[in-house]
Amino acid sequence: MFERLERLPDDPILGLMAAFRADESRDKIDLGVGVYRNARGETPVLEAVRRAERVVLERQSTKTYVAPAGNAAFNQAMERLALGAGHPALAAGRVRTIQGVGGCGALRLGAELIHTAAPHSVVHVSSPTWANHVPLLGGCGLKLEPYPYYDAAAGRVRLEAMLQALDSLPVASVVLLHASCHNPTGADLSEEEWREVLAVVQRRRLLPFIDMAYQGLGAGVDADAFAVRLFASELPELLVAVSCSKNFGLYRERAGTLHILTESASRSEAALSQEVRIARRLYSMPPDHGAAIVSQILTDEALRDLWQREVGDMRERILGLRRELVRELNAACPSRDFSFIAAQRGMFSFLGVSPEQVRALRADHHVYMTEDSRINIAGLRSENLERFARSVAQVLRRSG
Ligand code: LMR
Repeated sequence: MFERLERLPDDPILGLMAAFRADESRDKIDLGVGVYRNARGETPVLEAVRRAERVVLERQSTKTYVAPAGNAAFNQAMERLALGAGHPALAAGRVRTIQGVGGCGALRLGAELIHTAAPHSVVHVSSPTWANHVPLLGGCGLKLEPYPYYDAAAGRVRLEAMLQALDSLPVASVVLLHASCHNPTGADLSEEEWREVLAVVQRRRLLPFIDMAYQGLGAGVDADAFAVRLFASELPELLVAVSCSKNFGLYRERAGTLHILTESASRSEAALSQEVRIARRLYSMPPDHGAAIVSQILTDEALRDLWQREVGDMRERILGLRRELVRELNAACPSRDFSFIAAQRGMFSFLGVSPEQVRALRADHHVYMTEDSRINIAGLRSENLERFARSVAQVLRRSG
C-alpha cells in the first residue's frame, strides 16, 4: 500500500531546527524557528509555569478524560485574557470556547467550522503569511487567496492596498488577520489602522478570523489584544485562535483556544456543538497538562502577576535587541537602512536579503533563517549581534 509514497521535503521552518542541531560550529546562530530565547540563548520554563505546575501536580487527583471542548476553567480564563474580563460580548453570553491542540489546533478547528458552515468559503490571507497557515487552513478543503500586506522596501504595512483589496471581496468572505507580532513580517497595524480595517469588514460583511499567537510579546498583554476586543464589540461574528506556546513558553504542551463569537448565545452554542463533534472526529480530546497550568496561572493573582512580569521581560528583551540590531546592521552595512526593524514588533522581521544570500549566511557563517530571510530576533544575543551584522555585511558585499 505505501510503496507509492514519496519522501517529502522537510517543513521549511521545522527542518531548520534539525539542520541547526546537526551543525557542530560553536559560533552558530539560530534565527529560524519562532521560540523565545533569553540572554543565555536558552528557552527557559517560566517561573510562573514551574510554580503552577507544582500546584497542578499536587492537586490533581485523577487522569480521567476531561472533555472534547477541553478544560472549562482554562477556556474561561483564556476568554478573559483575550477579550478583557468585562467585555460586553462575554457579558452577553455570545462567546463560546473550545480548547485546541495548541494554536495550530485552534486554527484548524476554526477552519473546520467555516468549512462545515460554508464549504466553498475562501479565506483571504496576508501576503505574506505564516507558512503553516496554508496547510492548516487549506487542509480541510478551504481555498486560500492572498491580500496585499507588506511593503518590503518601506518595511511596513501596505495599508491602502490592503484596504482596497478587502473592500473588493465578495460579501461573507473570510479574512485571516494577525492580532499582533505579524508572522513573518513583524509589521503590525496601529489602533487607527485597525479601525479602518474594521470599517471595511463591516461594509463588506466579512468574517474575520484572528490569529493571536503572541499576546504580550508585541506592545503588551492588553495592547496586543486591541483588534480582538474592538472587533468583538463591533461585529456580529468573529473567530479568534489563541496560542499559549510563546507567551507562556508552553510550546510542547500544545495549549491554545478557539473563541467563537456569533450574534447570540444560542447560535454560539450551536457552533460549539459542531466544534465538539469535529474535535471528537479528529482527535477526541485535547491534552490537559498545559491547559491546567495556564488556568492555574490566570486564576491565581500572585502567579498571574509573576507571569505578566515574565512576559514583560521577554517583550523588553526583544525590543532592546531590535534597537541594538539596527545599530549594528546600519554600522556594518552603511549603504542600507535597517531602521524598520526597530519599528516592528514580536519575534520576527525580514532581513530583506535574497534566498542565495540566506544560503550563503548558513553555509559560510553558520547563521540559520528561513529562505525568505525571516529572522527570529529573540535568537540573537548581545555577544553575537556584531558577528551577525558582520556576516550579513560580508554576504551583501560579495553579491553586491
Ligand atoms: C514559527 O513561525 O517559527 C513558529 O510559529 C513555529 C512553527 O510551528 O512554525
